[in-house]
Formats: sequence, C-alpha cells, structure tokens
Amino acid sequence: MSITGVSARGLTKYWRGPGPTQTLALDDLSIDISKGSTYGLVGESGSGKSTLALALLRLIQPDKGEVIVDGHQIYALDERALRAQRRDMQLVFQNPQAAMNPRHSIAEIILEPLHVHNIGTPIQRHQQLQNLMEMVGLSKNLAPRFPHQLSGGQQQRAMIARALASRPSFLITDEPVSALDAPIQAQILNLLRELQRELGFTMLFISHDLAVVQFIADTIGVMYQGRLIEQAENKVLFNNPCHPYTENLLAAAGAGQRQTFTRKSPATDSSPTLKAACVYAPACPVATRDCQQKAPATTYINKSPEHWVKCLHYEK
Ligand SMILES: Nc1ncnc2c1ncn2[C@@H]1O[C@H](COP(=O)(O)OP(=O)(O)O)[C@@H](O)[C@H]1O
Ligand SMILES: [Mg+2]
Repeated sequence: MSITGVSARGLTKYWRGPGPTQTLALDDLSIDISKGSTYGLVGESGSGKSTLALALLRLIQPDKGEVIVDGHQIYALDERALRAQRRDMQLVFQNPQAAMNPRHSIAEIILEPLHVHNIGTPIQRHQQLQNLMEMVGLSKNLAPRFPHQLSGGQQQRAMIARALASRPSFLITDEPVSALDAPIQAQILNLLRELQRELGFTMLFISHDLAVVQFIADTIGVMYQGRLIEQAENKVLFNNPCHPYTENLLAAAGAGQRQTFTRKSPATDSSPTLKAACVYAPACPVATRDCQQKAPATTYINKSPEHWVKCLHYEK
C-alpha cells in the first residue's frame, strides 16, 4: 500500500434486505490510485461503482477492508479527525439538481463546505466564491440565482466548484456527465480534466461509459459484480485488453453502440460467498469448467505493475 494517493484493501460490502436477500456489492476489492492521477472506473450499472465511492469516503461502513488516503487510515479516524479529513475528500454526483438545496442560492451552495469547516472570513469567502466560479466557468451574475434557474451543465459546474471549495486532495466524480446532453458532457469533461491538471488532485472518475473514461483517465479499472477484473494504463487497455469482459466492452464500444451495459446475470446472491468462481464465468464466451470452480488470481501482463488481469486463462 502506498502512503500517498488512495489505496483500499479487501473492501467487502453486503447490502442487506429487503427480507433475507443480500447483495454482495463489493467482493474483496483492492485498488491503488496514484497521487495526482486520474483513475477511470468503468463497469455496467449495478457492478458496485457507487458503493466503492461511498466506502472510499467512509460514507458507508463496509463489512471488511481498509482504506488509506494520503497516509490516513480512513476507518481508524475518530469523529474529529474524520471531520477534518472530509475537507480533503469530496464527491460529485450524477444529478446536480438532486444534490442541491432548491432554496439555497448558488453562492450559498458553493460556499457551504467553507461554512461547514469554518474556513476563512466572510470577505475571504466572498473572494473564494469569485475564484471558484471563474475556475469552473460560471458567470458571476449567477451567484444570487437558485438551482432551478440554471441549466444542467451550469448546475454541475456549481457542484464541481463546491467540491473544490475546500481544496481537496482527493475528488471522486460518480457519473458526473451521465445526466447531461452530449455537447455539455464534453464541456464538463474538459473542465474536469483541466482542473485536475491545474490543481493536481487525485481523481477517481466513475462512469458506465467507456468512451467517457477513455477521454479523461490515466489508468482504467474495469469492474464487474463487485470486483475489479482488469486494470491498465489508458492506452494499454485499448491496445491489449486481456479479460474477456474487457474485450467485450471494447467490441461493443467499437461497434458504435451506446454503452447501456445491461446486466447479464444478477449480482444478488444469498450464499455467503462467490469466491469459488470467476464472477464473469456464467457470461464468458471462453469459460471452462475451471472458471466455475476457481477464483482467478491477479496476473501481471508484460511484467507491468500497472496492467493486471484476473482471468484463469492468463495464469501460468
Ligand atoms: N442502499 C442500497 N441498498 C441495497 N442495495 C443497494 C444499495 N445501493 C446499492 N445496492 C445494490 O448494490 C449493487 C451495486 O450497486 P451500485 O454500487 O449502485 O452499482 P453501480 O454504481 O455500479 O451502478 C446493486 O446490486 C445495487 O442494487
Ligand atoms: Mg452508480
């Protein structure tokens, strides 16, 4: 585990209910995100991406595992240390309107983290507001307006400004452009990319859309039913996809299909563990009997520490 950047080990999360059902949303998942890089996490709906985001920020308590953000053991922090740490870890959601208080002005919404964490004097905050709005390309005259008076793109810019107000070193964006029209998506993606380069924060960028992830990520991780099944540097993933599921995703994207990623088999499972198999085996075109009975270990490709795959076909 690295002491800078973001690392998680063995994250396991069951969502329980209704009734006796339980969903294994994170299945012993480990991830390393280098400091100052953009990690693109791609996977179909229901694969556990949002659950991972919440677990990394300790917005939910996983059943098992640990998270380290810039040397801080996130689950070991007491209330006070956690509150301080929260300034440093921010989240931008898919739907800005749902995340905004409709009765608060854009200025109040953007400055709320500074109020909550008691950062700066009123004059400094006013100055900060100007800086933040300029930084995300929002015209100053929008400051006194209310969320419903802004377009979807402007609302998302405001949410990005708010997330960056406390100058976090770690930003998670969870499907930040999925609710926006295509031309606006491109604007917001460009903005996030520029801000990341300018401010140098570590970013986990989550999307079900491979094309979007390809545009923004340094490293890409592919998630399937609560597990990361392959990870590689952006270009390497596209040039040399190893996992059959990754190949499948690339083929679908190459065929010009919009990525809807409907799930082939349900992640819901009432048995205590799925460990004794590859999670993709039931849908995999090249699965063998072994794939149904053995969980694949991590295999590094071409001795690269960045590119690895979990597939029995790559185990030597
Ligand atoms: N609050 C919750 N309660 C119960 N089940 C949940 C909850 N949140 C997510 N799940 C389930 O956990 C799995 C992973 O969901 P999620 O993390 O939202 O995936 P993604 O973000 O990749 O679409 C899904 O099967 C989903 O139905
Ligand atoms: Mg999600």
